[in-house]
Amino acid sequence: MSKKLVLYYSYFGNTRKIAEAIAESLDADICEVKIKNEKKNQGLLGKIFTEMRKGSKTELEPIRLDLDAYDTVFLGSPIWGGGPATPIDMILRDGTVSGKKIAWFYCTGGESDNKSTERIIEKGKAKINKHNSFVSAAGFARVLKRPEQALEIAVAWAKEATSLGSE
Ligand SMILES: Cc1cc2nc3c(=O)[nH]c(=O)nc-3n(C[C@H](O)[C@H](O)[C@H](O)COP(=O)(O)O)c2cc1C
Repeated sequence: MSKKLVLYYSYFGNTRKIAEAIAESLDADICEVKIKNEKKNQGLLGKIFTEMRKGSKTELEPIRLDLDAYDTVFLGSPIWGGGPATPIDMILRDGTVSGKKIAWFYCTGGESDNKSTERIIEKGKAKINKHNSFVSAAGFARVLKRPEQALEIAVAWAKEATSLGSE
């Protein structure tokens, strides 16, 4: 069984753009993780303040998909506070996603230097490896500002990650 799923959360649409390109190029299923009653149309600062006020009270809509059917998950997440955004953090922590090979793609607000990239990947990897096996990671900055380049890199990365995952 080598069925692939692209599972992602996105607030502003950057991660969604990458997720859709990967799903299309791999002919994989795709599913969006959603926050219950999420307030949309907030700017970046508004969203940050909402998240800070909510603390750990975030609730997710159930994932209406049989996760058992997949062995590889391309997991997409914005970076919030230097790590995977709350919804993705939650499904990794509580084992909603477990026993999968995870190829992780993430979106940031700005370019990261080598040190902060390393920190982001180490943080994500540790969270992924709690219930799953980390395969590979790819980061993208300001995707919606220049999508073509990012999507090309994302698709090439996803193809490579697929072959890594099948070893
Ligand atoms: C609550 C919150 C925290 C964020 N923290 C970071 C951060 O630590 N580092 C960073 O580079 N960008 C940070 N950002 C910016 C997002 O990572 C960036 O806008 C990303 O592209 C959003 O992905 P999306 O369009 O899929 O929602 C943050 C955004 C929000 C809303």
